[in-house]
Amino acid sequence: MPKRISLTHFLIDEQRAGRVSADLRLLIEVVARSVKTISVTVSKGALAGALGEAGTENVQGEAQKKLDVIANEILLQANEWGGHLAAMASEEVETVHQIPFDYPKGGYLLLFDPLDGSSNIDVNVTIGTIFSVLRNPQTKDKDPTEADFLQPGRDQVAAGYATYGPSTQLVLTVGGGVHGFTLDREMGSFIYTHPFMTVPAETCEYSINASNARFWEAPVQRYIAELQQGKDGPRGSDFNMRWIASMVADVHRVLTRGGIFMYPFDEKCREKGGKLRLMYEANPMAMLIEQAGGAATTGRGRILDIIPERLHQRVPVILGSRTEVERVTSYHLDPPS
Ligand code: AHG
Ligand code: MN
Ligand code: MN
Repeated sequence: MPKRISLTHFLIDEQRAGRVSADLRLLIEVVARSVKTISVTVSKGALAGALGEAGTENVQGEAQKKLDVIANEILLQANEWGGHLAAMASEEVETVHQIPFDYPKGGYLLLFDPLDGSSNIDVNVTIGTIFSVLRNPQTKDKDPTEADFLQPGRDQVAAGYATYGPSTQLVLTVGGGVHGFTLDREMGSFIYTHPFMTVPAETCEYSINASNARFWEAPVQRYIAELQQGKDGPRGSDFNMRWIASMVADVHRVLTRGGIFMYPFDEKCREKGGKLRLMYEANPMAMLIEQAGGAATTGRGRILDIIPERLHQRVPVILGSRTEVERVTSYHLDPPS
């Protein structure tokens, strides 16, 4: 019988190797437990009353779906009492979520997008959860403020996501490569199925919402036009396109078989600075992609080097296979004269 390694077993090995502290191990276990709960609700769909609008808006002025609210509550409640966190931040919560005073506090900050791909909930297409872990720079007696969260992505101690698709998977990095786990629903445990996931340097697949084409900047227009010319253009080969509209599922495909994913700057999002959120979408995905050998930029610089200004800040995102990310970034930095 092949040996099955559970997430718990994997994390204990990581702790023994000195890559994970006891508190970080607990934190990841609690996030994984929350993901299992969200997965059960997602898989029940309409039977759990989980589809449709919540009838409320989040801080970003976006209409919340019922599942955005449910997933957020599951993550907040599960992570409050374990003693491993100093505070949390969520896409669905305007300010820092403090740990209730009757629970002990730990040394980590947890940030999450509880439900990524909200537009896909009601059509039964893959959605997910994205999370990022930072160290709390404050002493334990002080409540962390928003400023304490505003650390560059290169300082993340862990990052990961779950996909709720045909199977539920958890993909994780603590800085020693990217590791994937699949939920065994009968046993209720995550099993280590995808060791050391890597993004191939070359690819012939790209991912972008082409309905925004007329709003893109010239370097992105040029790059995509070249891909679309295929064999007859300057690239000399054909490229395929995929767009799921759940970042988590599009990035998972890139981590699995390569590709380039882009939500670049465009005229429509000029005031906001981009579509995707830096702290709980771009940063964790950039850490995972870099740990898997890929690259992640805004088109003008490395995502993980951005010094955040706001919790819900948005940024352009270009990530995936290294040679393609470098090419489109070079188009931004050295436009043809
Ligand atoms: P969220 O559901 O957390 O608000 O994020 C949705 C994001 C991301 O998952 C996806 O890549 C993008 O929005 C899709 O945007 P378009 O609808 O513009 O394609
Ligand atoms: Mn999202
Ligand atoms: Mn979301």
